[in-house]
Amino acid sequence: MAKHLNNIKIERIGYWGVGIAKTDEGKKILIKWWALPGSVVDCIIKKNKKDYIEWHITKIHKYEAKYFDGEIFCSHFFSNVEPDLKAKTSIEKHKIWCGWCKWQMLSYPRQLELKQEIVEDCFRKIKEKPNFLPIVASPKDKWYRNKIEFSFWVYMASREGIESRWNLWFHKQWEFSKIVDIDNCWLISDNANSIFEYIKEFCFDSGLATYDQKFNRGFFRHLVIREWINTGQLMVNLAVNPLDIKDEKNLDLWKILKKKLEKDEFIKKNITSFVITYNDGLADIVRWTNISVENLIGDWYIYEKLILNWTKQENVESTFRVSPFSFFQTNTHWAELLFQKAINNLLEEWEIKWKILDLYCGTGSIGIGVLKAWIWNSLIGIEIVEEAILDAKYNAEINGIKNECNFIASPSEKVLNKNPEIENELNNIWLVIVDPPREWLHKNVIERISKLKEDNNFKLLYISCNPSTMARDVQLLIEKWFKIKSLQAVDMFPQTHHIETVGVLV
Ligand SMILES: C[S@@+](CC[C@H](N)C(=O)[O-])C[C@H]1O[C@@H](n2cnc3c(N)ncnc32)[C@H](O)[C@@H]1O
Repeated sequence: MAKHLNNIKIERIGYWGVGIAKTDEGKKILIKWWALPGSVVDCIIKKNKKDYIEWHITKIHKYEAKYFDGEIFCSHFFSNVEPDLKAKTSIEKHKIWCGWCKWQMLSYPRQLELKQEIVEDCFRKIKEKPNFLPIVASPKDKWYRNKIEFSFWVYMASREGIESRWNLWFHKQWEFSKIVDIDNCWLISDNANSIFEYIKEFCFDSGLATYDQKFNRGFFRHLVIREWINTGQLMVNLAVNPLDIKDEKNLDLWKILKKKLEKDEFIKKNITSFVITYNDGLADIVRWTNISVENLIGDWYIYEKLILNWTKQENVESTFRVSPFSFFQTNTHWAELLFQKAINNLLEEWEIKWKILDLYCGTGSIGIGVLKAWIWNSLIGIEIVEEAILDAKYNAEINGIKNECNFIASPSEKVLNKNPEIENELNNIWLVIVDPPREWLHKNVIERISKLKEDNNFKLLYISCNPSTMARDVQLLIEKWFKIKSLQAVDMFPQTHHIETVGVLV
């Protein structure tokens, strides 16, 4: 196949915001990014893998007007649209290259329409025709993230080229080896933006260098901010390279910086917990196997509340302790909405409350929320990250349901296979919740919950951030003992192509 294709018309958008089109010979191709239905584009092969070919857009000739009805609000919006198209929008004025909010050219209602189509498209091939409920919008379409992660990086992209001045921000779209300096992010609150700017200045003024992955040297690596929406608590996690402070001069500079941070009134007033993660691993991630963590300010936890409004009850509040490496849903109001929707879809006709099995449970937010609000009998939660399980156990205690909960730190696929600790507890299960990471469920998990369904008439609540892998899992599950009751897309990440899906299988 040719490496370049011209004037290709995008037919529809699939999972991950990928444009789906056909070549003149009728061959299906997948094109990244900024493809929208009806767009006419030129593209080039970027990755030629065994199972798929990835095409990238080199030029957009035409957008369908219907899919250009939004307002570009961020000055860092990246788009590779052609100049004549730019003239029709305010894109011309805009700067460069942040790839987060790729869907700003679409109004929020149009984004929701596309997301509904994406989810339905992913489930097109499964044998049973699902009952799709209408997509649920995020309560906010901006300033909704409660967690953000920035990278310190040596090479910064500028309009004119590459500057070798160190800085701190997001990686550049298409070129991971560079970052883009951005003065404000629309996905986090003004407060989180100002804390980011404040800490950044301290780091810049410290005399310590930024980490350079090429040579595994330099000090500052990542800055993670978590800001809880219902409690207002805020955590800063500054990840640094401990190898760099083996040098005495750098160690002194670090001691001075730490003192300044500890004493600073603004920091003391606005930051509930400030942790330092010492990470000497090569990978560009905050958490490495061999890290150590120091508490600079406050505890090494922050607390968030989930306020759930059930159909049959008053608001019920649950509190969750979350430590630096435990997962918590990134859009708190969305999580409240999602859990409510999921349980309402599930529970209309339920009278008896029995056991819940919560696989991939994180800090226990959904299981504990449900158990507390509905006073169910008991909960078994399984999660791979040990700190998250410690948080979950503590959360059960502070929510007054310690005796009803059993949280186990283990991969779900292992613990479900002949583990005497839970084998007996798996009788009389009424609800199984699965909320896995982006990959599909492990085959052991599918087999075990299918086997369990033979003897227990439970419902399965499947929450997924990847409708494509979820569709494959649902197909396998309905080949065994399950039927689809409902599927519903719930939008957690406005301005992006990401989407969550909730399925109820009975
Ligand atoms: C999408 S999060 C859901 C967390 C939780 N349900 C919540 O709402 O906060 C997925 C979770 O699965 C955990 N995880 C990843 N692989 C796992 C595995 N093999 N077994 C159990 N848990 C796993 C992750 O650490 C993460 O906490």
